Parts: sequence; structure tokens; C-alpha cells
Amino acid sequence: MNHPNVVSEAHIRLIRNNDHSALQNLSSSLLVERVHLSTTKSKVAKFVGDPKEIMLVAIINEKIIGVISAGKLSSLPETSRWLELFVNSNWRGRGIGKLLLQSLISQCGTNENIQCLVLSVKRNNKTAIDLYLKHGFTKRNNFTSLFFPIVDMYMLTNTN
Ligand SMILES: CC(C)(COP(=O)(O)OP(=O)(O)OC[C@H]1O[C@@H](n2cnc3c(N)ncnc32)[C@H](O)[C@@H]1OP(=O)(O)O)[C@@H](O)C(=O)NCCC(=O)NCCS
Repeated sequence: MNHPNVVSEAHIRLIRNNDHSALQNLSSSLLVERVHLSTTKSKVAKFVGDPKEIMLVAIINEKIIGVISAGKLSSLPETSRWLELFVNSNWRGRGIGKLLLQSLISQCGTNENIQCLVLSVKRNNKTAIDLYLKHGFTKRNNFTSLFFPIVDMYMLTNTN
């Protein structure tokens, strides 16, 4: 896809504690499409304080327009992380999701605590599925048993 030149205006950085309210604005903008981004203060603090977890934000004009995280989940193996990715609907289709995903993969590559990224995606979410498949993710069945059966979701991971 050819993106208007917006990625050059964006920068990606680690989440900070004082990003909490800006993240809440992003979360509110997603609610209209029933996309749920959980953004409690303690969740942000957990990502800020734990080097074994990563949360990155995409900033344009000092506003957070996207977020990606690789967080611990008790039902996952010790070195696997649960991936979540959200871009404000006004900024989609311009390369921000890709930039966030590539930045996260790059950061995970230098973090020995993280060996595998796991995510779930609705089967009809072609945009997200295309994005993940292009970045080395594959559909998996063996993780599904860790969660309640979700019939309209795919589980994807970036390792075999
Ligand atoms: C999925 C999501 C993060 C993508 O963000 P985005 O900024 O729009 O994505 P990008 O513009 O970087 O596009 C990345 C890839 O997605 C795919 N894509 C983007 N827009 C698309 C469209 N309209 N149709 C099909 N594929 C599309 C393409 O593969 C594209 O790669 P390319 O540029 O190499 O062709 C965004 O749509 C979103 O936040 N959705 C709601 C939350 C969600 O579904 N999260 C993922 C589930 S974990």
C-alpha cells in the first residue's frame, strides 16, 4: 500500500507514567467501534517499571495516536508476551500500525526476556491479519487451549 507521508512525522517511544490520560483519549476514540483498549494508571505503571514488558506509543503533533504492547500473561509461557496494537481510526492506513509493530519486534530482539509474541485477532480483521502475516506471524492452534474457546478469533505467534 502507498501511504501518504505521515510516518516521517511520527515518532515512536516507550510509554511514560504521565502518558496515562493521553492513552485514555485514544481508548475513548476506539470505544465507538467497540475496540477495547484497557488503560488503567496501574497498567501503565506496570509497563513503565518492568523491563520484561514493553509498551510503545506513536506520537504525532505531541498526541498519542497509536499504542502497541507486549505484556505478561499468567496463562502464557514465561518468555511469551501478549501483543496488543491500536491506532486511532483517523490515522489508519498510513503506516503507523506497521511502524509500531516493527519497532516492537526490534525492541523484543534485544530483550532476552521476550522470545515469542502471541495475539488474538478476529477472523474478519483482514487489515490486522495481513499486517501480522507480513511480519513473520503464523496462525496457531496450540495456544488456543490456554484461553476460553473463541470461535471467531485466530491465535497468531511469531515463533514456531
Ligand atoms: C490493525 C491496525 C492496528 C492497523 O493499523 P494501521 O496504521 O492502519 O496499519 P498500516 O497503515 O501500518 O498498514 C499496515 C498493513 O496493514 C494492512 N492494511 C492497512 N490498511 C488496509 C486496508 N484498508 N485493507 C487491507 N489491508 C490493510 C496492509 O497489509 C498494510 O501493510 P502495507 O502498508 O505493507 O500494505 C488498525 O487498523 C487498528 O487499530 N485496528 C483496531 C484494533 C485492532 O484491530 N488491532 C489488531 C488486533 S490485535
